[in-house]
Amino acid sequence: MQRNYLKVSQVGIEFPTDGEPFRALQNVNLSIAKGEFISLIGHSGCGKSTVLNIIAGLYQASEGGIILEGREVDEPGPDRAVVFQNHALLPWLSVYQNVELAVKCVFKHSKTKAEIREWVEHNLSLVHMDHALHKRPGEISGGMKQRVGIARCLAMQPKVLLMDEPFGALDALTRAHLQDSLMDIQNELGNTVVMITHDVDEAVLLSDRIVMMTNGPAASIGEILDIDLPRPRDRLALAEDVQYNAYRQQVLRFLYEKQKNSAKKSASIAPAELLPSSSKKSVAA
Ligand SMILES: Nc1ncnc2c1ncn2[C@@H]1O[C@H](COP(=O)(O)OP(=O)(O)O)[C@@H](O)[C@H]1O
Ligand SMILES: [Mg+2]
Repeated sequence: MQRNYLKVSQVGIEFPTDGEPFRALQNVNLSIAKGEFISLIGHSGCGKSTVLNIIAGLYQASEGGIILEGREVDEPGPDRAVVFQNHALLPWLSVYQNVELAVKCVFKHSKTKAEIREWVEHNLSLVHMDHALHKRPGEISGGMKQRVGIARCLAMQPKVLLMDEPFGALDALTRAHLQDSLMDIQNELGNTVVMITHDVDEAVLLSDRIVMMTNGPAASIGEILDIDLPRPRDRLALAEDVQYNAYRQQVLRFLYEKQKNSAKKSASIAPAELLPSSSKKSVAA
């Protein structure tokens, strides 16, 4: 596998403060293959969103940079669509119109009106939202809003789909449904995905590789775990799977043994994550 589709190369960033600048990231290096599903995991405040925002072009790295298909990218573009935790839909537009707006930005010169309509509807059907085209965000549930946010990104046909805790604010059942939908879609379309999560099960279930970040300041990549489980993956079968549980343990060990100092310091995810998954409650980041 050639891991040179998306490269995070020697990335560091300092944020200005009233006193000394705050160094959030240092020497972050990651090479991702086309079609790979990568999860970024690490304690709250370590710098996951900062990495994603630099890839998205929303933040400028202080050192190093992002290379996508051999070209440096340092500003936002439709080739890198972002799904945020809180959907970010425009409340005065319908479900259909929210997706249409993004589609028109990207395809206004290459698709006819009829093709645009068909494409918007197709992408909403991928996330099972074609029944609610004319509803407004205020009239649908949180899970449905996240579906629309995902459809809006998919419809832009980005080279890379960036997701910042996309299911973090959802209840466990809705989250499971959306994870399954995302696995189906990625299986069909072969998207390259970088997803931030604080949920160890989610990371193991969805990823080809889990990138584990060290604690900040000057956070970097601590370990990378290859998840060699066949696809399609079935959450019920995997719950009993020895290899699945070994991967899960490896991530937990990284977070709560190797990086445990900050687990104590930050109001982080530790207690719930250490419970067996059956008794785990959803914890917002
Ligand atoms: N725009 C910013 N200005 C100053 N500090 C920031 C900014 N964005 C993030 N930080 C700091 O950088 C660190 C990493 O933040 P973030 O990437 O949001 O963490 P995570 O997503 O892992 O929870 C935190 O200490 C945070 O306070
Ligand atoms: Mg974050």
